[in-house]
Amino acid sequence: MEAVPFSTSTRLAVMTGAGISAESGVSTFRGKGGLWSKYNLYEVATPEAFARDPRMVWEFYNLRRAQLPTVEPNAAHHALARLEAAMPDGAFTLITQNVDDLHDRAGTKHVLHMHGELAKVRCTGCGTITETLDDLGPLPHCDSCGAMLRPHIVWFGEMPMFLDKIDVAVRDCHLFLAVGTSGTVYPAAGMLSLAKSCGARTVGINLDEPDNVDSIDHFFQGKAGELLPPLVDEWLSRL
Ligand code: OAD
Repeated sequence: MEAVPFSTSTRLAVMTGAGISAESGVSTFRGKGGLWSKYNLYEVATPEAFARDPRMVWEFYNLRRAQLPTVEPNAAHHALARLEAAMPDGAFTLITQNVDDLHDRAGTKHVLHMHGELAKVRCTGCGTITETLDDLGPLPHCDSCGAMLRPHIVWFGEMPMFLDKIDVAVRDCHLFLAVGTSGTVYPAAGMLSLAKSCGARTVGINLDEPDNVDSIDHFFQGKAGELLPPLVDEWLSRL
């Protein structure tokens, strides 16, 4: 594995996507067998779809929510948690497009879930956010105000979460690592070239070449669960 510059003073920003959870048994979105080959994203993952047919949208997310307790973090999630624990405060930022809770369960303390979280629901009336993986039925409503609940998920056409914090971490990092993401969905996909244009080295680990591979200085092709732990161990040996 080609050496990537890393030292005690390195500030690292990590962006993960569905590929990091693939070895845990969570489906990716694109490619053969991906969720968007089985579902029409415009029918299940847009505000318009929820306004038109909330039952169908809930059905899609209830299946994803029910799967969460049946899957476990893999070696790649654990490697990133080890890295966060070993790096100085503020030097490690984990940004994920994933709505699963596998980074959190692996022990990473600060996870920026830019596309929301399956384990949370939000009231469309009073805005209350509740953490729950309970089966809420086909069309859940808020206990306090009676309005319809929605998954706490960023749908296509909505603004991702934590963009201010993400922007600072990406512009300030010395090293940007992208793991398991096809580099197709913006603004997440643009973070890599933003980091590079601000002077960072960029590293990618992915099964297939992502769309933004031209902006990656060190690209390692393969499975995150196999390639990330040795890379992290090598970095840890330099702390
Ligand atoms: P994609 O499904 O677009 O891409 C997953 C990437 O992971 C692909 O490039 C695969 O080659 C790679 N991959 C698969 N298995 C892997 C493994 N074991 N190790 C490493 N890489 C692997 O998923 P995302 O890029 O995360 O948004 O998709 C971005 C967004 O599109 C998602 O957050 C979601 C989706 O629509 C919303 O729902 C808003």
